[in-house]
Amino acid sequence: CGIVGYIGTQRAVDILVGGLEKLEYRGYDSAGIATIYDEQLTAVRAKGKLHNLRTKLENNVNYAQIGIGHTRWATHGKPEEYNAHPHGDNQGRFAVVQNGIVENYQELRQELKQKGHNFVSDTDTEVIPHLLAEYYNPDGDDPFMDAVMKAVHRLEGAFAIALLCADYPEELIVARQNAPLIIGFGQGEFFCASDVTALVNHTNAVLALENGEIGRLTPLGVELYDFGGKRLRRTPRVLDWSPVTVEKQGFRHFMLKEIHEQPSVVRTCLEVYFNPDWQRKSTKPVNLNLSSELTDDLENIQIVACGTSWHASLVGKYLLEQIAEIPTFVQYASEYRYSPSPIMANTMTIGVTQSGETADTLAALGMERQRRSRLDKPYRPRIVGISNRPESTLGGMVDQLINTYAGIEIGVAATKTFVAQVMAFYVLALDLAWQRKTISPERIDQILAGLLQLPTQIEKILQTEEGKIEDLAHNFPETRDFVFLGRGINFPIALEGALKLKEISYIHAEGYPAGEMKHGPIALLDAHVPVVAIAMGGSVYEKVISNAQEAKARDARLIGIVPQSYDDEVFHDILNVPEVEELLSPILAVIPLQLLSYYIASLRGLDVDQPRNLAKSVTVE
Ligand code: G6P
Repeated sequence: CGIVGYIGTQRAVDILVGGLEKLEYRGYDSAGIATIYDEQLTAVRAKGKLHNLRTKLENNVNYAQIGIGHTRWATHGKPEEYNAHPHGDNQGRFAVVQNGIVENYQELRQELKQKGHNFVSDTDTEVIPHLLAEYYNPDGDDPFMDAVMKAVHRLEGAFAIALLCADYPEELIVARQNAPLIIGFGQGEFFCASDVTALVNHTNAVLALENGEIGRLTPLGVELYDFGGKRLRRTPRVLDWSPVTVEKQGFRHFMLKEIHEQPSVVRTCLEVYFNPDWQRKSTKPVNLNLSSELTDDLENIQIVACGTSWHASLVGKYLLEQIAEIPTFVQYASEYRYSPSPIMANTMTIGVTQSGETADTLAALGMERQRRSRLDKPYRPRIVGISNRPESTLGGMVDQLINTYAGIEIGVAATKTFVAQVMAFYVLALDLAWQRKTISPERIDQILAGLLQLPTQIEKILQTEEGKIEDLAHNFPETRDFVFLGRGINFPIALEGALKLKEISYIHAEGYPAGEMKHGPIALLDAHVPVVAIAMGGSVYEKVISNAQEAKARDARLIGIVPQSYDDEVFHDILNVPEVEELLSPILAVIPLQLLSYYIASLRGLDVDQPRNLAKSVTVE
């Protein structure tokens, strides 16, 4: 979900709706706003995309200069208008928007019902305005803030909330516990939002609330408190973002724009991290500056991640094991947090996340930190993050962050952030390989030289294959299943190709290690199930071709992702990529797969940037 809030001198409705537009990638089942004008608190909500809310607001003359807004990704309760935020109490005094899950909401709801409160939604959020109403004492010292302080102590789980009270037309209160919330500082106006994307059109001065903090926004400024009421003082940071970062810049979709940004993302990573002439200058090949505490006696690496980041981590495992010879284990964060492997000494734990806010990944890392602090006394830094969002919650909680410099990604299906994460693993694997002397300096140079070619090679794929892929995409209007095959370093690319297609075209797709197809998925194959084989040359090329033959023998339409000089007759359709050594091939192989999903989904007329049921940043468990 995404939340936004405004207090200042402009018309709040415009700012709120504009902000929600930038947050829609976080959820788009329903949306709503609440404002205070003339001491009247009013809320407008609509089911479905923001567009529906906009239509409802068209004839609404609302001059309020304070308000909160929400775009929802349903957790508790169907995506209906009555479940849309903001939620209120029975007197119409409070309005609340929330991102997160109040885990003890059933217990609270029961308690409040017994006290005479009436509930009208199925959501967990609705307990919050009722709690506020319960605790509100108009004769107290600071009634609104006091009620908030009392209420937050009753909430369990993860939440970021923004609150209005009709009696306080010049006060907006926000609180955070394990879900992101950023405050934006303007001239005589203040903002809050789940993500800086909603703020950059207004201000670059931002402050991320930390867990257990409350903020009071008034036209005069922002006051910060901890949940115990103690006043806190912190200074905002200035982002170097420009508003165009969050615009489509002529592309039909953010996803297509982000696919096209990949050459520059790879280039930036190379510029920031690699020293191509390191030998001549007798320096390190890589400027990662990992502390020696992290690397000195390192024996294992474990990686926690979700979704596409988990796929990037699988490529990372290949690189860390094959180049740096460090045993590496990749875990789904959502699984790991409830069944962690026994703790091992001298292990580096890496959390990989493009949003830096995925609840499962953050929780898994938090748990790991606690376990580590029991094992290593005094605490020894062992937790690393890989993300494009250094300002995120992840950035604040890890011992060291590897910034992938991909910038923000808006399309829900991850593309450039995936490529950037994989690049970060090349950097890390080469750094560790150099430190541990597991490969020769000549081999490091060879890999570096190959990496330096990647940006132009991606550009080439975009130039020569995009049109071909768009044409090919016309062939699957009725297709319901796809199979993606890859081996070795490209097995994760098969998984990623399948995930991209599922996410945005709603076609069922499976990614499989090519050699495993005969143990199951082969039963699915017939003339209606296309098979995409990633046959990038190198040690497993012949094997993948044999596996592709097995699919062809079952009448499957075979699409090959193949290096230029390898055009093999086995395939019905060929998508070419420049020839590179196997170790570097995943970065190229994934590009045609991203484009294929993009064009299949967009030909089906689907909302590529905001596919149904998904959200870009999943801040709930
Ligand atoms: C969501 C997104 C995916 C993403 C996953 C993990 O499900 O829709 O695109 O891969 O979360 O997100 P993270 O921000 O942790 O990389």
